[in-house]
Amino acid sequence: MEFSGKVALVTGGGNGIGRASSLGFAARGAKVVVVDRDVAGGEATAGIVRQKGGEAIFVEADVTKSDSVRAYVERAVQAYGRIDCFHNNAGIEGAVAPTADYDDAMFDAVMAVNVRGVFLGLKHVLKQMLAQKSGAIVNTASTAALLGSPGMPAYVASKHAVLGLTKTASGEVARHGIRVNAVCPGPIDTRMIHDLEAQLNPGDPQAVSRRYQASIPIGRYGTPEEVANTVLFLCSDLAGNITGAHFVVDGGRSSTPGAVTAIRD
Ligand SMILES: NC(=O)c1ccc[n+]([C@@H]2O[C@H](COP(=O)([O-])OP(=O)(O)OC[C@H]3O[C@@H](n4cnc5c(N)ncnc54)[C@H](O)[C@@H]3O)[C@@H](O)[C@H]2O)c1
Repeated sequence: MEFSGKVALVTGGGNGIGRASSLGFAARGAKVVVVDRDVAGGEATAGIVRQKGGEAIFVEADVTKSDSVRAYVERAVQAYGRIDCFHNNAGIEGAVAPTADYDDAMFDAVMAVNVRGVFLGLKHVLKQMLAQKSGAIVNTASTAALLGSPGMPAYVASKHAVLGLTKTASGEVARHGIRVNAVCPGPIDTRMIHDLEAQLNPGDPQAVSRRYQASIPIGRYGTPEEVANTVLFLCSDLAGNITGAHFVVDGGRSSTPGAVTAIRD
């Protein structure tokens, strides 16, 4: 997995999984464009890359806004001339509530980041990659793209949609030297999973964490780096014949009946 001379763009690069993939690309030679609405987090990721001797810029953007997405693509091309790898990763979890009680505005907010944001990223980055006649994209979906999860209607619907976008785009651009895949993480040790723990049991999030991790065959949450490694593989030439696919990184959770509901028992 060698990215010397290549340019990687990561949305949601200011924290969690996106920071890990930004650092992973940079460690293997890529110039990295870190995109996030979190200025402190995004600047920190780019700063870590530069401290380690790599090249990175931070671009503040809201992935739900078309102008903002067009601008992050333009800024990347202006800075580094091309986009070889795109980790289309920014996402939010939204509230935990049953469908019958789910807030309309919250539903729209989750769909805006997780579906519209991924769609806009594909649309604008693909224009650049089509002009280059090369590129590799990984959209961050989730095991929530494959299974229902009581209490998370917006998130589950949004991540199912990410796989639909992945499959559709991959077929459109495969003959143009561009691959589009998705990664489906299970529970990963980032801010997002800790927020969900606190929503499920505000009084004792640690209890949720213990029960949740015990329900995963591998016995623990995944790390952001474990997801990033899969993203890097899918963006690398090693994955040259892989497109329209999704890769599960979940410690065996989704392949074990009952594990998904164990958290609620
Ligand atoms: N942590 C998990 O357990 C888990 C599991 C499966 C999938 N995922 C997915 O992984 C991705 C990364 O999540 P994470 O766990 O690293 O969480 P995180 O909250 O640490 O990182 C998400 C990043 O996205 C950014 N972001 C959110 N909305 C944005 C917007 N409108 N514009 C620009 N940036 C925005 C945030 O500022 C943040 O830096 C998400 O798509 C998430 O749904 C996470």
